[in-house]
Amino acid sequence: MSGLKVLVVGASIAGPATAYWLAKAGARVTVIERFPRLRTGGQAVDIRTAGVSVMRKMTGMEAQVRAKSMQEEGVSFVRDDGRPYGVIRATGNPEQQSIISEYEILRGNLSQVLFDLTQNNDKIEYIFNEQIASMQQSTSLSGPVTVEFLNGTKTSDFDLVVACDGATSRTRAMALECGVRDHIVPTNSWTAYFSIKQDLLHGSKIGQGYSAPGGRFASISADPAGATRVMLMAIFPPSVTDATLPFREASTQGDDALRTYIATHFRGAGWRTDTLLDAMLLADDFYASEIVQVKLPHLHKGRIVLVGDAAFAAGPTGGGTSLALGGAYMLAGELASHPGDLEAGLKGYEMQIRPVVKEFQKIPPLVSSVLAPQTVWGIGIRNWVFAIIAWTGVAEAAQKYLGAAFTSSGNFPLPGYGWVE
Ligand SMILES: *[C@@H]1O[C@H](CO)[C@@H](O)[C@H](O)[C@H]1NC(C)=O
Ligand SMILES: *[C@@H]1O[C@H](CO)[C@@H](O)[C@H](O)[C@H]1NC(C)=O
Repeated sequence: MSGLKVLVVGASIAGPATAYWLAKAGARVTVIERFPRLRTGGQAVDIRTAGVSVMRKMTGMEAQVRAKSMQEEGVSFVRDDGRPYGVIRATGNPEQQSIISEYEILRGNLSQVLFDLTQNNDKIEYIFNEQIASMQQSTSLSGPVTVEFLNGTKTSDFDLVVACDGATSRTRAMALECGVRDHIVPTNSWTAYFSIKQDLLHGSKIGQGYSAPGGRFASISADPAGATRVMLMAIFPPSVTDATLPFREASTQGDDALRTYIATHFRGAGWRTDTLLDAMLLADDFYASEIVQVKLPHLHKGRIVLVGDAAFAAGPTGGGTSLALGGAYMLAGELASHPGDLEAGLKGYEMQIRPVVKEFQKIPPLVSSVLAPQTVWGIGIRNWVFAIIAWTGVAEAAQKYLGAAFTSSGNFPLPGYGWVE
């Protein structure tokens, strides 16, 4: 694939990872990002199974991720008055998927790690403040994709366009001629994140999680920089139709409206939530989003292909980061394994990543997720489990099982590609 000219849309996690692997396979890559700079906000994410395997093939990445990791030692699940039900600790064994991953890192910090790994690469160019205005591709696969840009970059032909612009991908909507919410599978839940410039845990590396009635969950955890990271999550029962609509409507009215909506939803939930809400209204790093999955019948259309949340957002299982890394690696590997045959490479990518996506998108039935060990676990599921405890009233029983539930490993062997080693 030497000399293949590729446009990657989005510079979050999937974008820089895709640029890394495609450049490694010999492509020339342009990455565009519609924001003026790398975005540093966002939640804690974790890297596991296939994601860890890919990370270990990216020179220097694991050390950087460790250096910037949350270093959380456990989570204490507390009652309304703050007394703990119990503490769930990290295993310290990377092959065992604990509830606490040793590769738990803030999304923005991970994005920075990936950007640092790629920004000085001769084959990779980053353009910020830029978006696609239109794309033209011939119906056959033979011709390039002609891309017009919105903000100054010259119209150009690309052999391949990779959409890495998130669950509500505009590139996907453009390519498939659909709305940005088409192919989104809602999970009736949303989360909000922010930090408080004060250590509410007084030096402890054990976070705290609290479940309130109504599917509301709040957690605080230590920030490596001495602040406190707060997460609020709401889960609505499957019986509520379009439960996240009020959240989305508030969201379209801007951050302040969204904060007000969230504060109203959580006010009076108990524990320290009212204090957390007061801090949220003032936080300068407030970020909230609906939790969704993305399910597509095909991961490419012609020469436009999707990687990361745009292609297969994992939703509440929290496997999105691992899938993004796995997808980036497999796309480059499959294209390189089918030189001169783009279509075969894209099909290979889809075939390789599908089973991994299937595993990472599995949402365990609510009650059994508390009571029965499952295979793939992480931050997302942990939070879900905590949040549903309020409904199921099985806190005591759950506590006993959680430790065991989160330790099963679900390893995915990665295909080996000659050019990697
Ligand atoms: C992680 O990102 C935050 C901004 O969200 C920043 O303040 C902090 O310095 C970063 N941490 C590391 C270790 O780079
Ligand atoms: C276009 O790019 C310039 C320079 O990077 C930037 O200052 C401006 O804000 C951008 N405009 C839009 C609409 O993105």
